[in-house]
Amino acid sequence: MWFVWPRATRPRLGRGKVKSRGRVVRDHTIKSMTYKVTLIPGDGIGPEVMQATVRIVQATGVKFDWEIFQAGAEAFAKYHEYIPKELVESIERTRVGLKGPVTTPVGEGFSSINVALRKKFELYANFRPIRNLPHIPTRYPGVDLIIVRENTESLYSGIEHEVVPGVVESLKIITEKASTRIARFAFEYSRKNRRKKIHAIHKANIMKLSDGLFLRCCRDVAKEYPEITYGEHIVDNTCMQLVMNPYQYDVLVMENLYGDIISDLCAAFVGGLGFVPSANLGDSCAIFEAVHGSAPDIAGKDMANPTAVIRSAQLMLRHLGEHHAADKIHDGLEKVYRTKDKLTRDVGGTAGTSEFADAIIQFMETSTDVPAQAESSHA
Ligand code: NAI
Repeated sequence: MWFVWPRATRPRLGRGKVKSRGRVVRDHTIKSMTYKVTLIPGDGIGPEVMQATVRIVQATGVKFDWEIFQAGAEAFAKYHEYIPKELVESIERTRVGLKGPVTTPVGEGFSSINVALRKKFELYANFRPIRNLPHIPTRYPGVDLIIVRENTESLYSGIEHEVVPGVVESLKIITEKASTRIARFAFEYSRKNRRKKIHAIHKANIMKLSDGLFLRCCRDVAKEYPEITYGEHIVDNTCMQLVMNPYQYDVLVMENLYGDIISDLCAAFVGGLGFVPSANLGDSCAIFEAVHGSAPDIAGKDMANPTAVIRSAQLMLRHLGEHHAADKIHDGLEKVYRTKDKLTRDVGGTAGTSEFADAIIQFMETSTDVPAQAESSHA
């Protein structure tokens, strides 16, 4: 059982009875409950992959009441706000979001909506499992890595200014609070899920103060977890080590920008960006989204692989305590990849996004029940 969040990020919703002053106020053992979830379709390939995912999630039989809101350029065109107030209120209410990718203009225009949402809701831990699905040929079979990315600071703070024409400054913010918090998340997650080894990834040989502080925080937290082997690798060496032998790593913890870059590198181990899910976790809410972006090169062509968003929805279902539904989706995905005749183009098939989703749903509907523990080790 690998999927146990550290205490702070666990949802209040979930299985079991919720008590207030000794009184049972809500009993989630009743399986017919409806979950309210904020749904952000995103743009580019977002609406295509999200629609496919929602159909699959609904086919599990778990009931959802989706609160649907746009964000980014599309929201601005409609409401003159990049993150509409109603969207913020919805996440505050539901405390769970499923999000499609949102485009950020390059070198101009508005700041990233994705980063803004993570900061707004203090979703400080970005959890990114890198795992092969069976039956997808890759250069590295059997990869099982966890990337834990700090999600609120570093160069992603977006604090930049022009000092004089021709000279700009971009500030890298690293704090003891955020570094300790993300290190603790990585160690708690590892302890609870029996992971053996954590590497802190850094560039403290050059950025002695900022990355030095990050490392000091990781070392301090590591002392409280003697059963977990702790190591440190410099980020450029890590890239080479990963390509040479990804199996040497178990859990990697790093600041924001390194996490962004290393995630895409690791996506290549498991079939590409179409496969890697993520969970943005905070103390009071969580937003689930793929690692990939809006892929403008294939948007609107029914070519996108929705697997990364489907796996993100699986993480969401586990977060809600709906493990059986997550297992059911895994079973459907696994069967589609095994039979190979409804695969998307990124993995050599010819099927469209919706055709791929139809095939998963068909397998889910025709398969006999998944044994309770069978797939609990998959995203
Ligand atoms: P990207 O991830 O959108 O695309 C990179 C490459 O991977 C492209 O060739 C694309 O076709 C392919 N790809 C991505 N997802 C795929 C899928 N599901 N199936 C098949 N192929 C897939 O990265 P890029 O081009 O750097 O960014 C495009 C836009 O997305 C930018 O505006 C960026 O800011 C935004 N972005 C948004 C994110 C989010 O909403 N969380 C995350 C990353 C980027």
